[in-house]
Amino acid sequence: MREQLDQLLQDALREIASANSEDSLQELRVKYLGKKGALTSLMKGLGSLSADERPLVGQMVNTVKSQLEEKLDETLTGVREAAKSERLQSERLDVTLPGRRGGRGTKHPVSLVIEEISEIFGSLGFQVAEGPEIELDFYNFEALNFPKDHPARDMQDTFFVDDNILLRTHTSPVQVRTMLKHAPPVRIISPGTVYRCDSDATHSPMFHQIEGLMVDKGVTFGDLKGVLTTFVNQYFGKGTGVRLRPSFFPFTEPSAEVDIACVMCRGTGCRVCKQSGWLEILGAGMIDPEVYRHVGYDPESISGFAFGMGIERIAMLKYGIGDMRLLFENDVRFLSQF
Ligand code: PHE
Repeated sequence: MREQLDQLLQDALREIASANSEDSLQELRVKYLGKKGALTSLMKGLGSLSADERPLVGQMVNTVKSQLEEKLDETLTGVREAAKSERLQSERLDVTLPGRRGGRGTKHPVSLVIEEISEIFGSLGFQVAEGPEIELDFYNFEALNFPKDHPARDMQDTFFVDDNILLRTHTSPVQVRTMLKHAPPVRIISPGTVYRCDSDATHSPMFHQIEGLMVDKGVTFGDLKGVLTTFVNQYFGKGTGVRLRPSFFPFTEPSAEVDIACVMCRGTGCRVCKQSGWLEILGAGMIDPEVYRHVGYDPESISGFAFGMGIERIAMLKYGIGDMRLLFENDVRFLSQF
């Protein structure tokens, strides 16, 4: 029986040593140590031994058992380590590979138009100025010669915060802020967000304008027309027709509405220009002396002009966008086209 035990130990150790996977080690554990395994069936022979031999051989069986268990565990750890390091080898991270890029965004058409227009006026010597969107009545209306309760205020449906504070309805308050801070000459443009209580296919309660202001000695209506014609020709193409119509704003005198020849039909008449051949793009005029009085300029020694245009309007004309609401729905399928 001792010889049999010894033989079993040798066979098992040899087999374990040549096993190279978790599965094959598990099979060997069953084969030698399992309930119906080799060791168990050998132990059945214990009963036929003499009383003094039995404990000795029993002890041998236990030694063999624990030797095999130890060897199996040890080999299993080795096999697992080997598998792990092999996996690490093949999965190695190459930090020199180029990264995967996220999708690249595009500029919003409103931002694009602001940049394009600012660049043109920049080349004509206009600097960018900014003002707050939450504005005092004084800058938005009073100093621009809209007296309290004057019907001219009805032109601009206003969101009031309280009696004296409002969301600016146009970028014109930046004219006042600029002139209060700087002595003439001034030459600024001011792009920004403005708010009016108005919403349909061509009006959004939040929209954008660019204001222009030039004040100096001897600035004339001819300068206004020249600057605007230069802008229109650069932005909408050489030879685009420009037309000035008399209009009214409390803070300019004389005032004009400026039209360009329809960019869709080039002036022959279509749906976009309602068969007129012309599209209105901005309001403008010579600064009213009443405004100079509010900001402490001397109307006798200087003169100047201002203009204000709606950016969404320009974006729609420039890029052929039929509905203003598309600009604010934030649908990337639309926005990524610019
Ligand atoms: N602020 C005017 C508007 O929003 C436009 C304008 C600006 C007119 C400057 C004249 C001069 O309607």
